Amino acid sequence: MSLLSVKNLNKRFGGLHAVKDVSLEVRQGDILGILGPNGAGKTTLYNLLTGFIEPDSGEVLLDGHSLLGIPAHKVVGLGIARTFQLCRPFVGLTVLENVMVGSLGPRVPAVDLEQRAYKLLDQVGLTGKAQSPSELLSYGDQRRLEIARALATEPRLLLLDEPFAGLGSGEIAALSTLIRDLHREQGLTIMLIEHKLREFMQLVSDVVAIDFGQVIATGTPQEIVKNPKVIEAYIGKQDAEHAA
Ligand SMILES: Nc1ncnc2c1ncn2[C@@H]1O[C@H](COP(=O)(O)OP(=O)(O)OP(=O)(O)O)[C@@H](O)[C@H]1O
Ligand SMILES: [Mg+2]
Repeated sequence: MSLLSVKNLNKRFGGLHAVKDVSLEVRQGDILGILGPNGAGKTTLYNLLTGFIEPDSGEVLLDGHSLLGIPAHKVVGLGIARTFQLCRPFVGLTVLENVMVGSLGPRVPAVDLEQRAYKLLDQVGLTGKAQSPSELLSYGDQRRLEIARALATEPRLLLLDEPFAGLGSGEIAALSTLIRDLHREQGLTIMLIEHKLREFMQLVSDVVAIDFGQVIATGTPQEIVKNPKVIEAYIGKQDAEHAA
């Protein structure tokens, strides 16, 4: 059975139909990629899945249970964690404290929170910065902190929104390895939005491509890169932008 089922989800912002009849399935153990040009509705989809905004219609089921009407902080408690396209560390808290705050949910026993947080910082390569003010971290380190904080909630499903944005190639390689390890070694189910196509296609097991809020194709990475609709909507645009 799917861990997450999305059925005919719709969201309008005034006259803009930002998410249009989107249906998709995330199976346990998948890394499902969400591909689409700027403004396609990818982040809005995450906002709908995580209770940040309410859909106009449609259904979201986690393990068969509806998430509709459940606010964001409770969705985290049910096991869906996310990172943000723009990093949002808790300013004024240290790196360690940021991760410990992530543990203050119903899924995590309230023991050894500091030890747990150190373990997560070690996993993402931030141990040496545990006591730094989080706002002083480099951009790449803030991305890692976001992931550690999300992992601290003990998610069953982790939603990553452009984790490689603004990173150099070395940082992207390190973060790719981390994402792959989370998936392979810990069996974490992941959804990934990312514009860095090469790394994206290497990580994901399946892809849902969206354009103007609608699903235009689904398939394996190999199928998706050859799909004419995807090439027209996304890959063509990327090429055109790079050529400009
Ligand atoms: N709260 C909102 N109110 C009004 N319009 C919104 C709101 N959130 C998103 N939109 C609009 O919905 C559309 C989809 O936006 P969204 O952020 O989901 O795109 P995206 O696929 O994540 O793009 P990007 O790759 O640039 O991050 C855009 O036209 C955006 O301007
Ligand atoms: Mg976005």
